[in-house]
Amino acid sequence: MLNLQIIIGSVRQGRGGLSVAEWFEDIARKDTRFTVERVDLAELNLPIMDEPNHPRLQRYTHDHTKRFSEIITRGDAYVFVTTEYNYAIPGALKNALDYLGPEWAGKPMCAVAYGGVSGAARAVEDLRRVAVALKMIPLVQGVVCPLYAQQRDDEGRFHGNQTQTEAAAETLNILAEMGAVLKARRLAAA
Ligand SMILES: Cc1cc2nc3c(=O)[nH]c(=O)nc-3n(C[C@H](O)[C@H](O)[C@H](O)COP(=O)(O)O)c2cc1C
Repeated sequence: MLNLQIIIGSVRQGRGGLSVAEWFEDIARKDTRFTVERVDLAELNLPIMDEPNHPRLQRYTHDHTKRFSEIITRGDAYVFVTTEYNYAIPGALKNALDYLGPEWAGKPMCAVAYGGVSGAARAVEDLRRVAVALKMIPLVQGVVCPLYAQQRDDEGRFHGNQTQTEAAAETLNILAEMGAVLKARRLAAA
């Protein structure tokens, strides 16, 4: 069984990211290939990166970093639910990525992106670039939700359309496949 972590990258009050994450999470939880863990950066409330040592050394001095390291270490595949702030990923997400090093490495990642007309396409490219630096394995599959606010109901729930639902299934398929291959690789190297 693979531990799929759904990382919610926006933290502001009234964020729409939670609604998109909940939609994807509902689909993922029905998939028996995964245990699903939500990693909500708003709940973790990490300060601006404040570790004195480079994360590659994993010599963490703060409890919040040690806790975050434990969480990300147990992930086998990552789905980042991200929007776009000024053509890039939200600062809170970049901050969280910067906190750790080897914890992210050698694991597959996809994005579920939501935003305005562009569907956060530039943020996804930004995220992939950072993921490469952290030695994650970025995959092209993912979900794009342009003008996503129009797909929210009166209670704020997000309803994915058919294309997005199919893309979610495709995303889970590749994460199951690559997640298993890369987990075996990590276990063999351990
Ligand atoms: C600071 C800020 C910058 C934004 N920049 C972009 C942008 O570059 N491209 C885009 O498509 N939407 C942009 N938006 C609109 C967001 O797509 C929209 O507000 C979305 O709800 C943000 O996600 P969140 O609600 O989870 O924070 C921006 C929103 C904020 C608050």
